[in-house]
Amino acid sequence: MQPLAVLGATGYTGGLVLEAARQAGLPVRLVGRRRDALEAAARHGEEVRVADARDPVALATAFEGAFAVASCAGPFLTVGFAPVAAAIQAGAHYLDTSGEQPFARLVYERFDEPARARGVTVLTSFGFDYVPGDLAARLAADGLEPLDEVVAAYCVDGFVASAGTRRTLGHVMTQPQVAFEHGRLVESRFGATTRRIRFPAGEHTVVEWSGTEPLTVPRHTDVRNVRSYVRAPKAAAWGARASRVAAPVVKLSGAFGGGPSPERRARERFAVLAEARGGHGGRRVVLAGRDVYGFTALLVVRGAEALRAGEARSAGVAAPAEAFDARAFVARLAPLPDRARRAALTSEDAPTLRPCVGSGRSASTSAISAVTGRATRASA
Ligand SMILES: NC(=O)c1ccc[n+]([C@@H]2O[C@H](COP(=O)([O-])OP(=O)(O)OC[C@H]3O[C@@H](n4cnc5c(N)ncnc54)[C@H](OP(=O)(O)O)[C@@H]3O)[C@@H](O)[C@H]2O)c1
Repeated sequence: MQPLAVLGATGYTGGLVLEAARQAGLPVRLVGRRRDALEAAARHGEEVRVADARDPVALATAFEGAFAVASCAGPFLTVGFAPVAAAIQAGAHYLDTSGEQPFARLVYERFDEPARARGVTVLTSFGFDYVPGDLAARLAADGLEPLDEVVAAYCVDGFVASAGTRRTLGHVMTQPQVAFEHGRLVESRFGATTRRIRFPAGEHTVVEWSGTEPLTVPRHTDVRNVRSYVRAPKAAAWGARASRVAAPVVKLSGAFGGGPSPERRARERFAVLAEARGGHGGRRVVLAGRDVYGFTALLVVRGAEALRAGEARSAGVAAPAEAFDARAFVARLAPLPDRARRAALTSEDAPTLRPCVGSGRSASTSAISAVTGRATRASA
């Protein structure tokens, strides 16, 4: 069986992806720049290939014969581009854990044509950032297009960032970001707009951030305006003006520590909400779960399995809900067997789309159980 090549296999997220892939029975190949560390992380019989993420020749050899590449080596704006090119050249599908909107934008621009020509699918930002927002948006939009607006909003309780995430954040804070306004991408910035959003656990202020939904949602949904938000106090929007000053400090903090323990991760709870509004009414969809890093690893592995099964609807660079049917993919996120359950999702906390409240003349309620794949829809 062809392996899934995991680049950044010595890292915190790479380690979780390896674990989830083994649980799923996917053969893995560990790729990174330090042979000793790779060999220490490999299990008996697993392949190891040494390649720096900036070395196209070494990457080509490392990815040869893999059915897909999962890149967990960041910051992606710094080291992320050569792995995408090398995966395409090797004829392997590609997924990554980037949460960097400017990187995703360049991946769509640069790699769509080469990936189409090679017949492979490229899925960027395919982790907690920002798959749930894109899937929830697609489900919220069902039957209501054309839409005036889609809003994605993330709410996380108890999150502890890994060192790699902090280092990456230090880079992203100084990058320009975009929103989708009146049918086109426009410049925006962290905190450019704020709103009040009713999450299942209560109403909170959310602040605009650099989610990739403004890039991905218009690819599969007829909509004029898309913005992405994260729960944060209003003051965070003002504080964002100081991000150029704060960025080096945040980057420096990424030199210390690893990632949260499994016990810490198990305490994290998230709710990702999408609101769709248009002339035909509106709908809210919530995707809820726990363990941000475990969920990221689960998404990468379920995405790789779906690519392997030939479920991708197109070659090229694709948004999550463009590559896969959103309902079918949510159903793929069913709970893992017992051992992995601790690290990722429990049956109670598996992604679920909760009853939603619509607005407008044909408001509707929709609920899907990710565990059973059962879908119900009823008028509100
Ligand atoms: N958005 C999300 O939902 C989400 C979730 C998880 C992670 N992420 C992102 O994923 C990335 C990894 O995070 P992490 O916490 O796993 O960080 P980490 O523990 O520091 O791991 C980074 C990995 O990248 C490797 N790497 C870095 N530069 C490399 C190079 N030039 N050549 C080869 N390998 C290189 C490192 O190798 P060495 O061990 O040799 O240093 C390590 O394996 C970050 O950018 C983070 O923001 C995003």
